[in-house]
Formats: sequence, C-alpha cells, structure tokens
Amino acid sequence: MKLSIVILAAGQGKRMKSDLPKVLQPLAGKPLLAHVIDTARSLSPAAIHVVYGHGGERVRSALDATLAASASRHSWVLQAEQLGTGHAVQQALPALADDELALILYGDVPLIRAETLRTLIAAATDATNGAAMGLLTVMLDDPTGYGRIVRDAQGRVRAIVEQKDANETERGIREGNTGVMAVPVEYLRRWLGNLRNANAQREYYLTDIIAMAVADGVRVVPLVAPIVAEVLGINDKIQLAEVEAENRRLRAHELMTNGVTLIDPARIDVRGSIEVGRDVQIDVNVVFEGQISLGDRVRIGPNCVLRDCRIADDVTINANCVLEDAEVGKGAIVGPFARLRPGTKLGAEVHIGNFVEVKNSSLGEGAKANHLAYVGDATVGARANIGAGTIIANYDGANKHHTTIGDDAHTGSNSVLVAPVTIGAGATVGAGSTITKDVADGALAVARGRQVAIEGWKRPKKTPKK
Ligand code: UD1
Ligand code: CA
Repeated sequence: MKLSIVILAAGQGKRMKSDLPKVLQPLAGKPLLAHVIDTARSLSPAAIHVVYGHGGERVRSALDATLAASASRHSWVLQAEQLGTGHAVQQALPALADDELALILYGDVPLIRAETLRTLIAAATDATNGAAMGLLTVMLDDPTGYGRIVRDAQGRVRAIVEQKDANETERGIREGNTGVMAVPVEYLRRWLGNLRNANAQREYYLTDIIAMAVADGVRVVPLVAPIVAEVLGINDKIQLAEVEAENRRLRAHELMTNGVTLIDPARIDVRGSIEVGRDVQIDVNVVFEGQISLGDRVRIGPNCVLRDCRIADDVTINANCVLEDAEVGKGAIVGPFARLRPGTKLGAEVHIGNFVEVKNSSLGEGAKANHLAYVGDATVGARANIGAGTIIANYDGANKHHTTIGDDAHTGSNSVLVAPVTIGAGATVGAGSTITKDVADGALAVARGRQVAIEGWKRPKKTPKK
C-alpha cells in the first residue's frame, strides 16, 4: 500500500507565550515541525501533507525548502478554524487516495522515531487477519490530559476516551493515546465523515474513529511506544526544555551504542547527523551541528563546536576549538583554541595550534601553523611552516586575493603576506617582514628596516622643575 503522511500542525501553542508559532520553536537548533518532516521524509512516502493554521504564512515559508527537498509530493493544507484533530485530518482528505495508507503525525511531537513508525505501518498493512489499522499508545505513570486506551478482557482495543469525557474507571487507565496512527484511507474517509462533536470539548475527535473501526470489524493493532520520549508532545517552554534534554540523552546513547566513548553523556549536544568510526573519544561540552563524520580513533577535547565537518582517522582536536565546514586529514592535530572557518582543508598530519584562524585555505600534508596566525584564501604546500604571528592580508578593503605558499616554505614570526602573492617552494620569509612581491623558490626574503646601532647614545634627561 502506498504511504501518505499527514502532519497536524494547526494548533496555536498559546502556552509558549511567544510570537513564534509553536511548531517553529527550535529543538536542537531546528524547528519542531522540521524534525517531524525529516522523520516523515526518511520513510519515503508518496506524499506529505501538513495541516497548518496559526502563523500559517510564517510556518510555510520557514519549511517550504525542507519539504521541497524531499522526493515525495507535498502539500500545505489550511485548517482555518481549529475544530479538533478529526476535523484537521478531514482537511487533508481531498489530497489522499483510497488505495493509500495514511500515517498521522504531529508537528509538536518531534522525537518520534522512524523505526517505531515502520513497525506501526507494518501492523496496519498486514492483512493476514483482515483489514487493520495501527495505533501507537504509551504507558504513563501520570496519564493526565491524555486520551485513554480502553481495552476489553482479551486486551483488544475497543475505544479511546478523552480525559474530559472519561469516567472514574477510565481515568484510572494508564495507557494513553499518542495520537499517532496508521489508517487505510478508504476507511479513514468513511469514519471521518461520520464524526460528531457531541463531547465535552465540542470538537471533532480523531480518536472517535477507533470505536468506528471496532464496529466495522477492522482490527485496531496497538503498539506501545518503545521509548516514552519519542511520543512526548510540547506545549510550553518547560516541556520544550525537557524534550531537548531527552533528545540530548537519546543522541548520546546512539553515539555510545556505536562505540563512542563520551566522558559525560549529559554534556554533549548532537544537533544534526553524525557518522562515527571506531574508538572515538569525546570530552565534555562538545556541540555538533549539521553533517559530521568522524573517522576511527578521533579524539575531541572539551568545549569544541563542530558544524558540517569531515574529520579523518586519528585526528586530535584539542580543547576550545570551533570548526565550520572544514575537512581535517588523517592524523592532524588542531588546537587548543583554533578556529577553522568554511572552506578549510587540512591534509594529513597538519598541525594547527593555538589562536590560529584558517579560512578558505588548503594546507598540504605535514604543514604547520602552530601559534597566532591567520591563513585566509591560501594554498599552503606540504611541510610548510607558518611562523607565529604570520598574517595573510587577503583583503584590500574591496576584494579578496589568493596567496600561494610552496612546499617546505617557512614564514618567520610576525610576517605579513600581502595577497596576491606567491612564496616559492623551500623559500624563507624573515621575521617581521611585510611581503608584497613574489618570493622565488629557495630564496630568503627579508622586508623590514635594517637594524642600526648607535654607539654611546645618551637618553634624554628630565628637565628639573622650577
Ligand atoms: C490529543 C488526543 C489525545 C491524545 C493527545 C496526545 C484527540 C481528540 N485527542 O489530545 O487522545 O492523548 O492528543 O498528545 O485527538 N490540532 C490541529 N487542529 C485542531 C486540533 C489540534 O492541527 O483542530 C493539532 C495540534 O496542533 C496538535 C495536535 O493536533 O499538534 C493535538 O491537538 P491537541 O489539542 O493538543 O490535542 P489534545 O487535546 O492534547
Ligand atoms: Ca484539545
């Protein structure tokens, strides 16, 4: 059966007390709704439909690109008035085909895992015992606020009763409705058409379709969520922070499951996707953003931020480094206190030391810039040594220019290389030089005032005050 995913995201989120629509509130640096869309995309559905309402235009413009990036068809479905979850799904019906399976997700339930959804879809599409639908439930110590799952003596699901409509016995049920379900569209269409709002909230409840399924002899296959965190909804900033912490914990556990040593799993933030090799070790307060890959035996010291980086085997990144859109070659050593900016490519065994900034530059195998330097818009050869205090002046106030430094070249301390300029292979730049002309291979360039010594020079004396 083809899969169509409907994401409900029309709620206002009053309790956020924010001008930003609830589903755009960031979790791990990304809007809540983007988490759900990304998970939806990973299931490769035929289509994704987002039901929106409050803050509509803002929500659409924030997420259009994310949706467009998926191979699935997608549509934005307006629910102008929020008349309930059943009413919300109804708005998407014209976009759904009868031979499809509809999977219902929520824009404010961001940690739902693809693995769990696959199990739910499999349950709903297994027709060996007749037509079926899947319902994701959750066991809670305190189910206050949740719809309760009513089962019969055989454990079969009979209905969902909302908290506000539940009697004393029903309120005692600890199994709650997550709201996530997988339903064949041909049934969904029929059942939604029969919804009435004769309940405590005067809403069209999606949950009422469960009793209709039972009446129609369609099996309701329950799946208890394997991880409670994945079905947690977010209504206020407290829950947002709680889910942020849960996300942090889940991502840290994933890393450890993949063999990474975390010095403290509570002090690491993975805000994007990360691939890891064997025997990686990560110290405290490290933040990963975007797409990261770490090779075997990579070590990362405390307080580092890495965004969109490819780090090869045996690299050491020492404390307090910031790396963005950088490629680091095998066995390289970076930091402490180094900054690698976009377009940095470090070859194997390169050393970048403290207070060194590299931008849009490649450094050949074994090159070194160990202290206090700026390397911008440059190609640096193998084994070249950038001395302490070397600055590449790449910007003339209007345009950026390129600098080439040959293999085995050395630049002395406190030298300024004014781009565009080429330092030849094996050339040496004397300390304190301002280099504005190309230096030939093997040459020594010195461009500074000559030292002058004045013998017997007398210091001025203070004139005595009268
Ligand atoms: C709903 C379920 C409840 C379940 C709970 C889980 C119903 C009737 N109840 O209750 O059984 O335990 O979620 O959190 O389904 N939404 C719309 N349009 C609407 C109404 C809601 O898009 O007209 C969206 C909201 O943005 C939200 C989601 O649907 O993402 C759930 O709505 P909410 O009002 O929070 O449902 P609950 O009353 O909590
Ligand atoms: Ca409600």
